[in-house]
Amino acid sequence: MLPSVAVMLVLLSCTHGENPAIQVILTNKGLQHGMHAVTGLIQEQLKNITFPDISGRVNILIGHVGYTLTGMTITKCDLPEPTVKFFQEHTGFRASIEGLNVALTGNWLTQFGVIHDGGSFDMAIFNFALTSAVGLGRDARGHLSVTSVSCSAEIGDLDAKFYGGASWIIQPFVDHFKGHIIGKIKSRVCPLLEEYIVMLEHHLQVMNVSFEVDQVLALDLPLSGSPIVSATSMNLGLKGEFYNIKTHEDPPFVAQPFIMPEYPDYMLSVGLSEFTLNSALYGYFSAGKFQILINDSMIPPESPVHLNTSSMGIFVPQLPKQFPDLLMDLQVYVTKAPKFSLQPGVVQLGVQTTVKAFAIEPNGTHIPLFTINVNSMFSGKVWIAGERLRGSVMLDNVTLTLVSSEVGTVKIAALKNAVRVGIKAVVLPKVNEKLGEGIILPRLRKAQLINSVLKMEKRFIAISSDAQILQTEDD
Ligand SMILES: *[C@@H]1O[C@H](CO)[C@@H](O)[C@H](O)[C@H]1NC(C)=O
Ligand SMILES: *[C@@H]1O[C@H](CO)[C@@H](O)[C@H](O)[C@H]1NC(C)=O
Ligand SMILES: *[C@@H]1O[C@H](CO)[C@@H](O)[C@H](O)[C@H]1NC(C)=O
Ligand SMILES: *[C@@H]1O[C@H](CO)[C@@H](O)[C@H](O)[C@H]1NC(C)=O
Ligand SMILES: *[C@@H]1O[C@H](CO)[C@@H](O)[C@H](O)[C@H]1NC(C)=O
Ligand SMILES: *[C@@H]1O[C@H](CO)[C@@H](O)[C@H](O)[C@H]1NC(C)=O
Repeated sequence: MLPSVAVMLVLLSCTHGENPAIQVILTNKGLQHGMHAVTGLIQEQLKNITFPDISGRVNILIGHVGYTLTGMTITKCDLPEPTVKFFQEHTGFRASIEGLNVALTGNWLTQFGVIHDGGSFDMAIFNFALTSAVGLGRDARGHLSVTSVSCSAEIGDLDAKFYGGASWIIQPFVDHFKGHIIGKIKSRVCPLLEEYIVMLEHHLQVMNVSFEVDQVLALDLPLSGSPIVSATSMNLGLKGEFYNIKTHEDPPFVAQPFIMPEYPDYMLSVGLSEFTLNSALYGYFSAGKFQILINDSMIPPESPVHLNTSSMGIFVPQLPKQFPDLLMDLQVYVTKAPKFSLQPGVVQLGVQTTVKAFAIEPNGTHIPLFTINVNSMFSGKVWIAGERLRGSVMLDNVTLTLVSSEVGTVKIAALKNAVRVGIKAVVLPKVNEKLGEGIILPRLRKAQLINSVLKMEKRFIAISSDAQILQTEDD
């Protein structure tokens, strides 16, 4: 019994069973560019690093001398461009740097019996080489995790000049004990790098994987599975689900798998599935955001039809007789969460609404008149121009069905034409104006997307982009 429960638990915790709704692909171009940027940052920071002290004992002519090298800082270091590659076997990266020469300065202290001595030194390290491989994974809560898989450091040669104190005694023995110091420095490099990787891992662990978008929605972005690394790219699959902050309810549909093509000419690409977009619509819908009250002040003054019982008489002949000269309003609510359908080059959206028409008595009392269902099909295009996401929408089809009427016949066909004209002449121009202005592509803290292109595919949108590291004064 117990073993089978254990097996079940293991199986359960292993199956994520969830298709990623957002995929992020880093290409080799992106990896190289990222490494270049990181190298620049490291180069900057190296100027400011004080290395941990090195101490040991060396045997020179006079006997065993204890020494400490302290306050070591870099005076000159030109980082050669590292090479970096995707590392398929360990699901990560492998970076190496070769032929690095470093000039250091610091202070030396020696102890020989009870005699203490000290001074300063200049040191040059030649042909320093470092190879490091890191593996990527996913922790139980969907954070990216990073671990050091291997590290090796080599130092070609070392030279040192000692000043002050009895440095003239030490100096002749540099060739004799430099192997010892090389060994000490070498043995320090990988543990230091591993410390950095552990620090990075801690940062990743506390990173938020859920973000509030507005007062209604949050976006859940944990990894839905382990990262996938090939020889040419890294693919991160993210949950990519919007949810209603209040209810935290999942939508009644699941993410379908999609295959994101690689776009090697761009640094990164993001695949955004239908599911992600539809979970946002569902979130707004379940929060009751898709309803609106339309009254006559929203109808443009030049419109031939107005929301009053006389004007609406052309569609409902009984209306002016039964309720003369009253204003009307319309309660419009979406009855089913709308869903986008993504097709190559086009996005379609079906919206099902119920419209309840009321006459308003002068004392404010609402008299129900009739109820109709209006189903509309829209199609649209989305593209990126001027670093903005832009779009346009048109109405494909609208159908009206009468649900009930308290005022006799409703001329559905005529009303349908009016609704169609209303949507095309009033609603869509406003929507298209907003979509034409577009929204600025997200800007990361230290990077901006440039050269972005968008392609509509079946069931997903693929956005490919380069990124530009921003020069910021503050750090
Ligand atoms: C280097 O360190 C000093 C003192 O710790 C600090 O004032 C300075 O801003 C640092 N410079 C860089 C480039 O980090
Ligand atoms: C994570 O998100 C929560 C809630 O949205 C927020 O309160 C918190 O400050 C965030 N933490 C970080 C490190 O951004
Ligand atoms: C129509 O609705 C708007 C906003 O809901 C309101 O400000 C306006 O007074 C209403 N107009 C009429 C004529 O009821
Ligand atoms: C009803 O609308 C028509 C225009 O269609 C307008 O001429 C008329 O004055 C309006 N009546 C009321 C009571 O607002
Ligand atoms: C509002 O006026 C109508 C007739 O004009 C009347 O039948 C109804 O009782 C009134 N309602 C209220 C709440 O005064
Ligand atoms: C519009 O809707 C009607 C009724 O649902 C359907 O018969 C017709 O094919 C639709 N037209 C288009 C262009 O989708």
